[in-house]
Amino acid sequence: MCGIVGYIGDKIAEDILVEGLSKLEYRGYDSAGIATIVEGDTIRRRQVGKLIQLRNELANSPCPGTIGIGHTRWATHGAPTQDNAHPHHHAGITVVHNGIIENHHSLREELREKGHTFSSETDTEIIAHLIGRYRGEGQDMLTALRTTLGRVEGAYAIAVLDQLDDSRIAFARKASPLIVGIGQSENFLASDIPAVLSHTRSFVFLEDGDHGFIHHGKVEIYDEHENAVERPIKTVDWSPVMAEKGGHKHFMHKEIYEQPRAIADTLRGRIQPGTLETTLSEINTEILNSIERIIVVACGTSYHAGMTGRYVIEKMARLPVQVELASEFRYRDPILNDKTLVLAISQSGETADTLAALKEAIEKGAPIMAISNVIDSAIPRLCEPSGGTLYTRAGPEIGVASTKAFTTQLVALNLLAIELASVRKTCSDKTIETAIDALTRLPREIENLLDLEDDIKAVAREYVKADNMLYLGRGSMFPIALEGALKLKEISYIHAEGYAAGEMKHGPIALIDENMPVVVIATPGLGYEKVVANLEEVKARGGKIIGVGHESDAHLKSLSEQMMPINGSEDSVSTVLASVPLQLFSYHIADLRGTDVDQPRNLAKSVTVE
Ligand code: M6R
Repeated sequence: MCGIVGYIGDKIAEDILVEGLSKLEYRGYDSAGIATIVEGDTIRRRQVGKLIQLRNELANSPCPGTIGIGHTRWATHGAPTQDNAHPHHHAGITVVHNGIIENHHSLREELREKGHTFSSETDTEIIAHLIGRYRGEGQDMLTALRTTLGRVEGAYAIAVLDQLDDSRIAFARKASPLIVGIGQSENFLASDIPAVLSHTRSFVFLEDGDHGFIHHGKVEIYDEHENAVERPIKTVDWSPVMAEKGGHKHFMHKEIYEQPRAIADTLRGRIQPGTLETTLSEINTEILNSIERIIVVACGTSYHAGMTGRYVIEKMARLPVQVELASEFRYRDPILNDKTLVLAISQSGETADTLAALKEAIEKGAPIMAISNVIDSAIPRLCEPSGGTLYTRAGPEIGVASTKAFTTQLVALNLLAIELASVRKTCSDKTIETAIDALTRLPREIENLLDLEDDIKAVAREYVKADNMLYLGRGSMFPIALEGALKLKEISYIHAEGYAAGEMKHGPIALIDENMPVVVIATPGLGYEKVVANLEEVKARGGKIIGVGHESDAHLKSLSEQMMPINGSEDSVSTVLASVPLQLFSYHIADLRGTDVDQPRNLAKSVTVE
């Protein structure tokens, strides 16, 4: 959580920093701030609340200068107040930080005893004090930085200004993301690519332990052993417009509409209609042949993708799949061995719990693999020496509520299931061919569903005042129900629960009355009759049913107050299709309620704290 950005060059830093922060706001929006250096003085502006507050302040009190750092905060230590807003400053040293300094209490006490006084409750201020103190004792900046890094424990990506030297910005990273953007006579630091994508597509992805400086015309990097290193410069193929709203009211809306493209990209070069093969060159397919089970570890929406993927993998590859919340996984001493593939699913590639679960798997000798959307992020890096990463090619997802990342994860899991089935020879050619054809048709089928947006908006209007909602599904539609409920609660703040339809009569049916809308996903296939039976039970108790099912399903229509139709395709991918109307339904309810759809309260997109 938290986003940081840094700039040194010939342009006005304020503009570049604020633009960068606007692309990082998804990482936190409790406060924002920037600092620059002008003629040996540090100029700092900080505001509580979203970036707009900082923009308003800068309109009256600009921050001149061509070197600067910025921060958007998701509060961990200390409330979202102006004093706690970054950048933090002490003795000419100014710091922005993403991460957590775990030993900040003891360091604070130690510094207090030496006469330091603090103006915030944050862990970050300690870093400014330590570097400032060591500089004051005569250490040069690199030594002061290293001495400080040697004292702090925890996770950090930092950018540091020293007002005595406006020719460079110091940086360091450990367990929090930080990249260097390479420009012409200018360089950038950022937590994530979109922050500086309109200025450069050339990036250095820093390693854990890396520290150094960006200057106007060069980048100086040292590794964790303090050796000077050259890191490769990589070119990303994301375009700047991918990080813009492109005429949509919200990023979430744009990202829902990007799904046909995102899915087509995720499939590109990996399958061919009419063939029986996948080409998944980024992953180590040898591992797939030797394993005896898969454990998926993930959080939130990615966890729901894992739960959904289990059905298709077990069906096609006849391999047992267990799906675990990454935040719980390592606290019960999981039983792992070299025949268990631990598969992490993470859009951001930096979720702390998922990363920690993978580290546990490595310690216990299990092979690891990832499905991720962000190249070279922490999780893919960890998987590189083992199973590698199957990248979803959704492009930057900026809305906090995950949409295109989820459906491309489902597609990636389908690809993995096909690959497993063909490597392990567990499926007939016909089944594989059908699965490939179904994936190929998906982008077009989603386009058709998006054409029904007005109808879904009309359904949303009916339920905009609801206080609670239930989502029901069976089989692979159960996790889709969970995801539908998560989407609704996170952006509309309506309490919503996802349930396996068969569990209704074991408790939740007690909640049903005319004030309880129930969204039921009932697609043809295994379990359909049973879902319809559950639906009759809801109906008999006065519950209002919103059916998600086949356009031609007259029975479902007759039982439902409203229908959100989905069209054709195979069972394996109907989970993707069913997700789309549920996304639009949540989106419109939230928009009609006037919530902040892209930046819902209390949330941040990348959860880099446990
Ligand atoms: O980046 P990750 O996929 O690891 O993130 C996991 C969750 O934090 C994420 O899916 C979260 O639940 C989203 N806000 C859901 O929309």
